[in-house]
Amino acid sequence: MSDLFSPLTIGSLELPHRVLMAPLTRMRATAPGDVPNDLMRDYYAQRASAGLVISEGTQISAEGKGYADTPGIHSPEQVAGWRSITDAVHAAGGRIAAQLWHTGRVGHESLHDGELPVSASAVEFRSRTSLKDADGNVARVNCPTPRALATDEIPRLVDDYRRSARNAVEAGFDLVEVHAAHGYLLHQFLAEASNQRTDEYGGSLANRARLLLDVVDAIVDEIGADRVGVRVSPIGSFNGLDSDDDGESGLFVAGALAERGIAFLHLSEPDWAGGPSLDDAFRVKLRNAFPGVIVGAGNYDATKAERLLRAGFVDAAAFGRTFIANPDLPARLRAGLALNPPVPETFYGGGHEGYTDYPTLVEA
Ligand code: PHB
Repeated sequence: MSDLFSPLTIGSLELPHRVLMAPLTRMRATAPGDVPNDLMRDYYAQRASAGLVISEGTQISAEGKGYADTPGIHSPEQVAGWRSITDAVHAAGGRIAAQLWHTGRVGHESLHDGELPVSASAVEFRSRTSLKDADGNVARVNCPTPRALATDEIPRLVDDYRRSARNAVEAGFDLVEVHAAHGYLLHQFLAEASNQRTDEYGGSLANRARLLLDVVDAIVDEIGADRVGVRVSPIGSFNGLDSDDDGESGLFVAGALAERGIAFLHLSEPDWAGGPSLDDAFRVKLRNAFPGVIVGAGNYDATKAERLLRAGFVDAAAFGRTFIANPDLPARLRAGLALNPPVPETFYGGGHEGYTDYPTLVEA
């Protein structure tokens, strides 16, 4: 048996194998209200053979929304929508984690009744987000310069995260993943370029990491460390934010998370977004900082996953675009069979086309 198809324990959860489904923005929640729906239920249930399904980013609050038609996990309707999805995944024999995100400055005032998106600091930057035009087509627009969160807003923000984790458990998720990668809010606090604060959440690396660690501590207190993972992207360039410290802040965070005994660390590697491949020297440092379960993601195929597993650098591999196109990806990888190619034009928004109509091998 290959390493990829051996079982793995993640916190309180037993996985039958190590081929995971990565979190993927698909922009198909029901508006108004950003409610998960039956189409999303079918999409996730089709992919329940993943060792673990990690949901698309689901916003912890209305403020945390940065794209059109992404789902939330802050209203009773959203929790009920997610419940039907987790029930369907469990009924199909799977396990599912909720990815909790706040996009911070990657957003647009039109998503917030004219209010600016919030961030660590009101720093000009260049990134775009995806909205919908009057015809419902996806439109890429520039993000505005955000408003800086005041210090006395931070406890409310941490509470939003705490409540969203509680909601995730109520919605039937097995685990939560805190999104601290890719230039979204928690990463905006962590990175020097986007954080010019002079309070205890800015300045030193320990201060810049404080919000993420406050959030993790609150969620661990609420649902237990064995149900919490964190996604980081220590190297690379995302959403107008360069991680240009050679991974130092990522390694610091990994060490602080290891002390907290969280269930897993999810490493997003820069090559999924056109960046360089991580070198093994960095992988060794990350492994030394975080001895627990590391999930790797970023342009993985079976060969890359097996090499990194055998070297002990990762414990599982999450697949994104290949899981979009192949609902039965684990079976295909296990048997070394051909993969359906993904169709990028239908990644974001729309209906079932390019979403629930990719055939399994049996169907094909
Ligand atoms: C995206 O929608 O392109 C996106 C969302 C979340 C990520 C990365 C990319 O972490």
